[in-house]
Amino acid sequence: MVAQEKSKLIIFDTTLRDGEQSPGVTLNDEDKINIARNLSLLGVDVLEAGFPVASPGDFNSVQRIACEVGSLMEGREKIGKPMKIAALARCVEKDIRTAADAIKDAPEKRIHVFLATSDIHLQHKLKISREECIAQAVRSVNLAHSLCGDVEFSPEDAGRSDPDFLCAVLSAVIEAGATTLNIPDTVGYNTPKEYGERLRYLIQHTKGSDQVIWSTHCHNDLGLATANTLAGVANGARQVEVTINGIGERAGNTAMEEVVMNIHTHPNTYPVYHTINTVHFARVSELVATLSGMPVQPNKAIVGKNAFLHESGIHQDGVLKNKETYEIIRPEDVGVLTNNLVLGKHSGRNAFRSRLEELGYSDLDKEVVQAAFEEFKKLADQKQEIGDSDLIALVSDQLSGA
Ligand code: KIV
Ligand code: ZN
Repeated sequence: MVAQEKSKLIIFDTTLRDGEQSPGVTLNDEDKINIARNLSLLGVDVLEAGFPVASPGDFNSVQRIACEVGSLMEGREKIGKPMKIAALARCVEKDIRTAADAIKDAPEKRIHVFLATSDIHLQHKLKISREECIAQAVRSVNLAHSLCGDVEFSPEDAGRSDPDFLCAVLSAVIEAGATTLNIPDTVGYNTPKEYGERLRYLIQHTKGSDQVIWSTHCHNDLGLATANTLAGVANGARQVEVTINGIGERAGNTAMEEVVMNIHTHPNTYPVYHTINTVHFARVSELVATLSGMPVQPNKAIVGKNAFLHESGIHQDGVLKNKETYEIIRPEDVGVLTNNLVLGKHSGRNAFRSRLEELGYSDLDKEVVQAAFEEFKKLADQKQEIGDSDLIALVSDQLSGA
């Protein structure tokens, strides 16, 4: 059997645009430059720097990122093409011209235009007919294409749009010059099966579909953003739109670290490869959490503080014997280098002794270890996590006969 050739999966990061749309998040210019630099180190392919027409501040930060992209790339490990800078625009002339202006100095750039296509948005928000929607999308993509060779089009709320109407809109924008078609499940409504099948249907029924890159853009309202994105990849998407820590409107966007580590962990499941340098994930996650003021939940996949910790005695014993008993990802692959055993009331003697050895107590008498372990269990009933200073105090008490 001939092995299927893998396609490159384009990682489109929208932490600075959709991510910044999280309630309560405002990043200043320095924060944005700092995050952009780190996204470059991570190996992001396309960076959506913002929505320039939204405010003079947004325009300036997008312009700064576009101008400084060369220096942002300094120190980036060579992974192929440099980071492309994208700016968002509604299908409105002023938005498109402002976006083009903001990114004009970037060596590689993209204008990303969007227009809602679901009946609920057309009737209640835009108050336009389907015909007017197609005409506005075509006019806008034409204009964007005249200003920038690389144009992405997003039919907002595609997850709830009539698939055949979507095919009509998408066929028309391909003809007008769109080069990437992004399919947003704007309100996180789809199931993975539905989203995957929707993408496949669109690819099969849109005229000129083989001339463009298909992209996913999922929201996490039902906790399915990562699953939907992966279903999109399995069904033909070759770009994923993601944010660090999954930050974004309401329940957030698809988390980059989750999609990338799924592909990393199941290399034979998806027909794609990525060029993300995963060892930067833990650090970049912490940076975004700190600058955005949105802490990461402890049990968050990949970058949560507990993602590689093992508290129960049975799990600790297994991990001490062979890490693969309870770890499907090597913590060091995502930049987590800490000791992965947290001591608490469920911890066993092996984990306790092992931590003492790491702290330098490698030749304690068995009786001392046993007595300290019994005291440790009593302490663990009162305290959730036992730190190294507690362990040192417990051993000192035993050695001094206290
Ligand atoms: O969720 C959405 O529909 C968007 C578009 C602007 C792409 O963020
Ligand atoms: Zn979005």
